[in-house]
Amino acid sequence: MSNKLWGGAFTQSADSSLEEFWGSIRFDKRLADVDVQGSIAHARMLGKTGIITGDEAEQIIAGLEGILADITVGTITFNPQDEDIHMNIERILHDRIGIVAGKLHTARSRNDQVVTDMHLFVRAAAQKTKTHLTALITALICQAETNIDSIMPGYTHLQRAQPVTFAHHLLAYGWMFARDLIRMDQVIKSTSLCPLGAGALAGTPFPIDRFMTAQELGFDAPYPNSMDAVSNRDYVLELLMANSLVEMHLSRLCEDVILWVSSEFGFVRLSDAYSTGSSMMPQKKNADLAELVRGKTGRVYGDFFTLLTVMKGVPMTYNKDFQEDKECLFDSVDTVQNSLIHIAGMVETMEARPNRMIAATKEGYLNATDVADYLAAKGVPFREAHEVAAKLVAYGIGAQQTLNDLPIEVFQAYHPAFGPDIYAAIDICTVLARRASYSGPAPAQVQNQIEGLKKTLGV
Ligand code: ARG
Repeated sequence: MSNKLWGGAFTQSADSSLEEFWGSIRFDKRLADVDVQGSIAHARMLGKTGIITGDEAEQIIAGLEGILADITVGTITFNPQDEDIHMNIERILHDRIGIVAGKLHTARSRNDQVVTDMHLFVRAAAQKTKTHLTALITALICQAETNIDSIMPGYTHLQRAQPVTFAHHLLAYGWMFARDLIRMDQVIKSTSLCPLGAGALAGTPFPIDRFMTAQELGFDAPYPNSMDAVSNRDYVLELLMANSLVEMHLSRLCEDVILWVSSEFGFVRLSDAYSTGSSMMPQKKNADLAELVRGKTGRVYGDFFTLLTVMKGVPMTYNKDFQEDKECLFDSVDTVQNSLIHIAGMVETMEARPNRMIAATKEGYLNATDVADYLAAKGVPFREAHEVAAKLVAYGIGAQQTLNDLPIEVFQAYHPAFGPDIYAAIDICTVLARRASYSGPAPAQVQNQIEGLKKTLGV
């Protein structure tokens, strides 16, 4: 006879290494608290509807509350032979309150139980991730506020293109993470239906109240289709996808930071707490954390693709394949949340080097567009103005001079519309200040962005 709670019809036990292979307790113990919460709601409903007596419900709930308290303080130990968290909790309950524990599983299957746990876990994880995203956006805003006048080159194709400010550059990331917040809200919405009561796949003949359990657990309503309820993993995939975008955004920020701290750029100094040295080269200060987070993006994408692939061939309804939804979920959640925490710390403590930034704007002809704009403003068609500016850049490269250093005669040799006011028009500070179109890098616009971003955070 099998020692399993489900083993009534089994004459042989599985080999122990096989048991370990198909069991999930070593990782689904993370669902312990939500599993007990789901069970408490179920027991309460069973009592209220008279499916079990009020007294039986009370004994079960008291037992479960005791287990929950022990889970919270970490004094529960699980038994690998009990396969998964659901079996473990039921066995512990039985040890504590006796055979009445066996009534808890009336009108319920592990299929609707596990999927309910997953909804609760995903909802809480998305909420927590929102807190970490908010902290990172706040750190970006803080750095932006102190660097509203720190002019630096903006890049396209990793070539110096036009001047921006460090604030403007950092806020671009602020808005990415603000979109991630919205995606997390969407994930939370996708967990708003309650699967509990769907049974194994086809409901139950018992007169259960699915609306009551839904409400008890903070859901909006029960799933309308019991088969969909037990086999839906969309909300998990949505979190894994949203997490992939968060980590991709972090990875891009990290890539910028890695460039900025290099001696080639030298725009930023990282706090010692967020950099490492080399065991061989004493002069090195590496942006290890940024590199690690960039690297971890691979595993977060991998987690998403793991489950996406698991789901693609699974016939209706529950199949054991679904047990594979957990490790990738936990890994993705932990990796993203830890990345957010540490990158927020790195951003908070990094130090901008405005002198290096402004020095970099002197090379690379960042004001070439403004030479063209100057002529265009004087009525020269922009295409022609662009060609004149390009020729002046080519001349400057040949003469090893910046546009600001070229004598007026040179300008005028290329076009008669140039006057002495060209120098003021292409001064890097003027160039920056004049980029005051909505969303541009001019300080007043950046200040607007900061207000807007703070508003999306509700501060
Ligand atoms: N450990 C299982 C899982 O995570 C629980 C559900 C088991 N249901 C079943 N019919 N075997 O998917």
